[in-house]
Parts: sequence; structure tokens; C-alpha cells
Amino acid sequence: MLKTLTLLFIAMMLLFIAVPAQYKQKTLVAHRGASAYAPEHTLEAYRLALQQGADYVEQDLQITKDGVLVCLHDLTLERTTNVEEVFPDRFKLENGNKRWYVSDFMLAEIKQLDAGSWFDKKFAGAKVPTWQEAIDLVRGKAGLYPETKGPEVYGSRGFDMEKLVLAQLRKNKLPDKKTPVLIQSFSPESLRKMKVELKTKVPLVLLISPPQREWLTAEGLQKAKSFAVGIGPAKSLVDGKPELVKLAHDTGLSVTPYTSNEKTKGRFASAREEMQYFLYTLGVDALFTDNPDQFPRK
Ligand code: G3P
Ligand code: CA
Repeated sequence: MLKTLTLLFIAMMLLFIAVPAQYKQKTLVAHRGASAYAPEHTLEAYRLALQQGADYVEQDLQITKDGVLVCLHDLTLERTTNVEEVFPDRFKLENGNKRWYVSDFMLAEIKQLDAGSWFDKKFAGAKVPTWQEAIDLVRGKAGLYPETKGPEVYGSRGFDMEKLVLAQLRKNKLPDKKTPVLIQSFSPESLRKMKVELKTKVPLVLLISPPQREWLTAEGLQKAKSFAVGIGPAKSLVDGKPELVKLAHDTGLSVTPYTSNEKTKGRFASAREEMQYFLYTLGVDALFTDNPDQFPRK
């Protein structure tokens, strides 16, 4: 019995040593917080993500008129707040559609908005958090996973999103031992700027949407490796090209597909089954999910 246990222990140690550090543990990234259960990008959704065991809590970042980073997925406020009701005349007309841009509003104005009722009345009164509020909530309990959203749009409006993000991390002395940070973007230019021009040591992840699939070739991955530690492809891209995982790993890149949830689980019986497949059959390292409580740990 003792001999069997010793052999088992040695085998486990050998396996542990053989697997590269970044792939040792499957990593749960709470997408917009626990956004299946609480309104995305509210402190309520982030709190729930922590309770459900998130390793990282994701924040999509936008910039207010007075230059404050806030957590919101869209460039505009109308999908997830009651801006239309509170500021009915403050829209821009685009192709016949009314748009209330974050960057047209001061933080104090955005703080007047209800970011919870659209999701469920029980969340009425939830606010759009500043990134600082998210940092204060999450730090020490999980990692932060900010995304530079529309950096080129903000650039054209006189904001330098990358500088703002890195300055805020510096001000907060982040990352720290208990709070790892990964910065993600669909914009390779945004990531390159942070790495090359702004010389950040914070690890970067390149998000890859279906139209950006040229990044998934051996050549594309090599290029990504020059500024990123990992890729975040749409899950359909990984599902359609499972060999991508090994190719990325051989290039030294981790793989974190987006986004697993109950609504888009496709052929799988549940989000848990979908995640099980991506993590343990295809071998990805991490997943963005709206359902952190469904993340299958082994
Ligand atoms: O950041 C990963 C995933 O969130 C990308 O999609 O549109 O939800 O930001 P999106
Ligand atoms: Ca995102």
C-alpha cells in the first residue's frame, strides 16, 4: 500500500514538473462578472463571481467625458442602463439610431443611471462602476482581467486608453502577489502599444474574433507571441480547429476561449458540459464564462 502511494506521488510530481507553468491549473474568468445571474459589469455581478470561485473577474473598459475608466461592455449606455429615460435628449443619431456614448457623459451623470433594472427589477439601482471601484472590490480575492474596448475610438476623441489603464494599475501597485492582472484586447495595435511603446510588464492576451482568424496560423501565432502571452479566440474558432490548442501551446501561448454560457451552449446539454469539453477534451487553459458556478474543476 505504502509502495503504491509512493509511486503515485512520484508519478504526480513528474507530471507536475513536465507541464509548463502557465498550463498547470485551469483558470476561470468570470465574463462581465457572474453575468448569467446578475447585471453584467455591476459590483453585484463581480461580488457574485468572487463567491462562485472566479480566478479572474473581467472588466470591459470605457472612458467618461471627464477621463475616468468605467466598466461597461458597449461604447454606448442604452443597452444596459436607463440613459434614454434620464437623459432623453443627449443622444447622437447614427444611421437613424439613437446612441448615448459613454464619452459624452461626465462620471457624475453616469452615476445617476440605473444599470440593474434592464436585467431584473430586483437589481434596480445598481450603478455603472468605475474601474477603481472594481479594483477595490476584487483585489486580493481574485485577478483582474481588463479589456481595452474601442481604443481607437477613444483615441479619436483625445483619450489615450492604454496610458490610462497602465497608469491606474501603477497607482494601485498592481499586479500584486494576490492579484494577478492580464490585459486583453481585440486590437493588436493596443496590445503592441502597451508592450513596445509603454513597456509594460503586465501580461497581455490577444482576443481573436472570427473575422480575425488569420492570427490562428503558425505565422500568426508567432506574431502574437511577440507581444502576448496568450490568445483569447471565439469558442467557435477553437471548436472548428481543435489542433489550434497544441499549435498555440507549442508557440508558448495559452488559450482562453470566449464565452461559455447556458444561452449559447449549442450541442452541449449544459454550460458545464461545454466547459468540460473545451477544458479537458480540447485542452484549453482557461475559459471566459457567464456561469462561473458551472466551471468544472478536477
Ligand atoms: O473578452 C473576452 C470576451 O469578453 C470578448 O467578447 O464582446 O464579451 O467583450 P466581449
Ligand atoms: Ca470582454
